[in-house]
Amino acid sequence: MADRESVLKPVSIGLLGLGTVGGGTVRVLTRNAGEITRRAGRAIQIVAASARDLERPRICDTDGIRLTTDSRSIVTDPAVDIVVELIGGLDPARALVFEALENGKHVVTANKMLIALHGNEIFAKAREKGLMVAFEAAVAGGIPIIKAIREGLAGNKVEWLAGIINGTCNFILTEMWEKGRDFADVLAEAQGLGYAEADPTFDVEGIDAAHKLTILASIAFGIPLQFDKVYVEGISGITALDVAYAEALGYRIKLLGIARRSLEGIELRVHPTLIPERRLIANVNGVMNAIVVKGDAVGPTLYYGAGAGAEPTASSVVADIVDVVRTLTSDPENRVPHLAFQPGAIADLPILPISEVETAYYLRLSAEDRPGVLADVTRILANHGISIEAIIQKEPLNGESRLPIILLTHKVRERELNDAVAQIEALATISGPVKRIRMETLG
Ligand code: NDP
Ligand code: HSE
Repeated sequence: MADRESVLKPVSIGLLGLGTVGGGTVRVLTRNAGEITRRAGRAIQIVAASARDLERPRICDTDGIRLTTDSRSIVTDPAVDIVVELIGGLDPARALVFEALENGKHVVTANKMLIALHGNEIFAKAREKGLMVAFEAAVAGGIPIIKAIREGLAGNKVEWLAGIINGTCNFILTEMWEKGRDFADVLAEAQGLGYAEADPTFDVEGIDAAHKLTILASIAFGIPLQFDKVYVEGISGITALDVAYAEALGYRIKLLGIARRSLEGIELRVHPTLIPERRLIANVNGVMNAIVVKGDAVGPTLYYGAGAGAEPTASSVVADIVDVVRTLTSDPENRVPHLAFQPGAIADLPILPISEVETAYYLRLSAEDRPGVLADVTRILANHGISIEAIIQKEPLNGESRLPIILLTHKVRERELNDAVAQIEALATISGPVKRIRMETLG
């Protein structure tokens, strides 16, 4: 009888952080309490929440929740069953998560930086303690992509995945493309809407997407989390001119995270990418995210939804809480492994340096308007075995003597392209660096 009572007792949540995602989580748990209890089999109540400034207005109703600035009092509170970490960053989030595990609490987090950089140790600690650490909200906001790859595609050998996994960047690129808006203005709007990271450099320089790609690659291929091996390039160098030229050639520019298995190893890269406009993923706009996952059995699959924002992200946080509640009484050995593969079966496959990656390219050069210039450029490319898919030569911009030439190449190993570009840049008729953006057909 006592056992049955404890099984039916509401599960107590301690929330760390009451900002965009924390506030969204309180709202969703409160509004949908009835439906959530029917799914979880037990009521879920938030007993305590922490923030830095308790006077700050919140987007949720905090009545009945003990509010504190002392997050440690939550992770050590014997009444708390599950700690939900929504502070972000490494400090103090990392120490709080370890302390929560040390104190026997399951953890739910939306913190991709924490998982990408310290997930290997966090999961080891959780296994040692027989606890769960759930992190669905860490990748692609409201899209249940972790669950889809870890469970839904468990029968497949994943060949590659490619995703728009930063809502802020996609919002910026969409506004630049659709409305010709200025980069800095759109970023400020994304910050106001709660999409951007506390330090938006993480968004625009591709670091946030690299955190997420690290996690996706790990669960897709059964490799350790290794953020330091990801090639990262952000969108700050993308100009409205490149967006317009890409469009004229039938492409859109998106910040993609790409992980691909090849015979030589695993490619892990985040960079702006031209994608043919006929692909569904090229038409994913605004704060929406989408991930294509190619499995050997299922073929390509596409997952789409809001990649950031209070309630979409809370949707994933709450799903994780429900998952943890459902498995509270199950044997830890028989739970779904944190990183999809059994801990003893994680393979240390080599990660390829970017110089060994093969991809097609968009090149933009500024050339002198005289005969033979294009012939010099194409000869250099041919000498490196690089074939050209398309060339456009534009009229010089107002009164300038130089003209923009845009070339699309077929696939080439990056180190070959680097050599060719260095030779092109050395031509007296070419001025400035050659602008290059990688291109993927995702076919
Ligand atoms: P916010 O900045 O909106 O919220 C952070 C919260 O943490 C605030 O309530 C803040 O308090 C509190 N906080 C900060 N430092 C401390 C501290 N030292 N002790 C106690 N509380 C602290 O961030 P988000 O909600 O946007 O992000 C939270 C996490 O979710 C991050 O890991 C982020 O990457 C991730 N995420 C965010 C998404 C989004 O759309 N925003 C989407 C997916 C994931 P106070 O309010 O008083 O300042
Ligand atoms: N800053 C992130 C983004 C939040 O814009 O995608 C969601 O992880």
